[in-house]
Amino acid sequence: MEIGIGLLGCGTVGQAVVKLLQEKGEDYGRRTESQLMLHHVLVKDLQKPRPGLTSEQLTTDPSLILDNPDIQVVIEVMGGIEESRHYLLKALHAGKHVVTANKALMAKHGAELFDAATENGCALYYEAAVAGGIPIIQTLKRSLASNALHSVYGIINGTTNYILSAMTEAGRDFEAVLAEAQAQGFAEADPTDDIEGYDAAYKLAILASLIFEHRISVDNIHRVGIQRISAQDIAHARELGYVIKLLAIAKRGENGFEARVHPTMIPAQHPLASVNGVYNALLVQGDAVGDLMFYGQGAGGMPTASAVVSDLLNIIVEMEAPPNLLMGCQHPSTEASLAAADQVMNRYYLRLQAEDRTGVLGQLGVLMGQADMSIHTLTQKKHAPGKAELVLITHPVSELRLRQVVAKIQQLDIIHSVDSIIRVEDFTG
Ligand code: NAP
Ligand code: HSE
Repeated sequence: MEIGIGLLGCGTVGQAVVKLLQEKGEDYGRRTESQLMLHHVLVKDLQKPRPGLTSEQLTTDPSLILDNPDIQVVIEVMGGIEESRHYLLKALHAGKHVVTANKALMAKHGAELFDAATENGCALYYEAAVAGGIPIIQTLKRSLASNALHSVYGIINGTTNYILSAMTEAGRDFEAVLAEAQAQGFAEADPTDDIEGYDAAYKLAILASLIFEHRISVDNIHRVGIQRISAQDIAHARELGYVIKLLAIAKRGENGFEARVHPTMIPAQHPLASVNGVYNALLVQGDAVGDLMFYGQGAGGMPTASAVVSDLLNIIVEMEAPPNLLMGCQHPSTEASLAAADQVMNRYYLRLQAEDRTGVLGQLGVLMGQADMSIHTLTQKKHAPGKAELVLITHPVSELRLRQVVAKIQQLDIIHSVDSIIRVEDFTG
């Protein structure tokens, strides 16, 4: 059986998909008992060199793919939202199966795309959209189908992990490491999506929907980026036995579903603490299986193409069978509400600049005691003439209570500033 494929986009990921199909196409064909035929490839600029493709295959006209009855599978690796959404809806309504690597699209419009897929009896696979080469989507949907999933803790943005790792290894500040990461091509020229946690929030919205078995809106995910993490915070964290990571967390908490992305201090001996550079990792907790860890390359042409092409092969072998219910969307059509971020309990690290004189610790202790906020650790880190840097870690407290206490601390005339507030995660909940 010949399987016609159309490719939307031929950049970092698309080019690697083309390479895999060319180098291993025969083997894929043998294993799926089919013949894979890449018809057209949609790009913006026809003049760019595209190794391995003929000029006849390249096009700027999407209808050559979307209206071609010989194409059964459309692979979307062009990014963006509106055009991709429009093309994929059109493909699904034309009865074509879809593979996409687009996390922003799936996080924002996954429900609409799944509805179109179900309506038309098509597969919609998106393994590459979360953690690149790590096979987490199929794992959650299929391999862990026997479990109720309690939580996922993920390092799912390579750029921020590279920056935090470099800051930790070299004791350097955020701006210097970011500039270097951009110069070396690890960070985008416009790194906003990565640095401010949007990319991780898109991926978390997808993961959370699978963990909670409900539709989750990315707009409801609590999100804090890494731009305010300083070399001092990293050094203090190390002395206290912690490492700072941008964690994406989805868990069934005391007050309901929690989904949040924020810099987090995690114990230095925890397996996630040793995930460095652009690598990604996920810790998944299921009721039957217990804890599972996944580690690998979350970005890059070949690791991402590995996930895209595996989706394609799975679609091909399932094409003649009824739709695989586990791989579809089985969630209620209404969106789940998440626990209010200000009710979520966490331990917190605070770094304060204070007067260096008697009574400072007493005033701080009284204020926190009155607010029923308990201190776990308090250290005075640095003396400048008349000034002291205080670093403290609290016992679990709600974010609302923490903010109220911080507002009162800032009003004390013995306190110059509250410079950092970072959540501390011990993975006990
Ligand atoms: P990229 O290098 O920027 O490539 C995008 C490709 O799509 C280019 O070939 C571009 O054409 C084409 N394109 C973009 N908009 C188009 C339009 N409106 N019409 C026609 N062609 C258009 O992007 P990428 O890094 O490969 O990423 C692609 C997707 O994979 C994104 O959704 C991204 O989030 C996801 N993803 C990427 C990675 C990664 O490591 N890069 C990892 C996981 C997921 P030209 O070449 O002519 O400009
Ligand atoms: N910008 C993303 C990252 C690419 O840094 O992880 C993969 O989605």
